[in-house]
Amino acid sequence: MLKKKNLIFVGAPGAGKGTFSAMLLEDHPMAHISTGDLLRDEVKRDTKLGREAAGLMKEGKLVPDEIIAGMVRDRLAQPDCENGFILDGFPRTIRQAELLEEALSSLGKSLDRVVYFKVDDDTILKRLTARLNCKKCGKIYNKLFMPPTVEGVCDVCGDTLYQRPDDSLETAKARLEVFYKQTSPLIDYYRDRGLLFEISELDKDKICAALTAELE
Ligand code: AP5
Ligand code: MG
Repeated sequence: MLKKKNLIFVGAPGAGKGTFSAMLLEDHPMAHISTGDLLRDEVKRDTKLGREAAGLMKEGKLVPDEIIAGMVRDRLAQPDCENGFILDGFPRTIRQAELLEEALSSLGKSLDRVVYFKVDDDTILKRLTARLNCKKCGKIYNKLFMPPTVEGVCDVCGDTLYQRPDDSLETAKARLEVFYKQTSPLIDYYRDRGLLFEISELDKDKICAALTAELE
């Protein structure tokens, strides 16, 4: 069991939030709350929110704070979050962090750690433009760094791999800019609160080891 289990994963697009959430979940039964995945599910189901979000996501812009915070609040109230949770990609603005604080305190919960994956811009752009995701089970691959055994096919469930529409070079650059302008102030926000754990390793095994050592 992890000692620190109510977690935020923060980092630029492509920093590894999804990859290392999946790694941690292999051994620890926690809730994985990826706001990007929640929004992509809304888009897939063609809901009102999904239709609104699709355009913003394609341009690499953020969905409004109150909407996203409401979704997360509802999700945090579900029973599986009692075992701990990883907030992957939320909060992304100071306003979202404030709304999260309100939601957590109304649910009688608190944060244990905010993990910041620090990765340089060149690596980010290489990773994003070579990323592949499984349509069915969501497993994340990379043509350059973590390829599937058979090209275009998921190792786990055999379904087809696809490229996210926001992983074009142009949108990836726009998302990176949004990260620096709107999300990076959260790093000092959480550092000031004594919650930040920064990982600047790029090697997968070293990241896994650092994460486990910090959270166990
Ligand atoms: P979201 O889906 O969260 O996208 P993101 O933050 O841009 O992050 P990514 O999912 O692109 O990257 P990641 O850090 O998960 O990296 P991954 O592990 O896949 O959000 C999408 C959109 O939804 C946003 O742009 C916004 O419009 C909206 N949205 C979401 N949340 C919101 C919020 N809170 N408020 C408002 N709007 C919101 O890894 C990337 C690649 O690198 C993979 O191919 C992987 O295999 C590879 N890789 C990872 N780590 C390594 C490593 N160590 N070595 C080699 N390769 C690696
Ligand atoms: Mg992700």
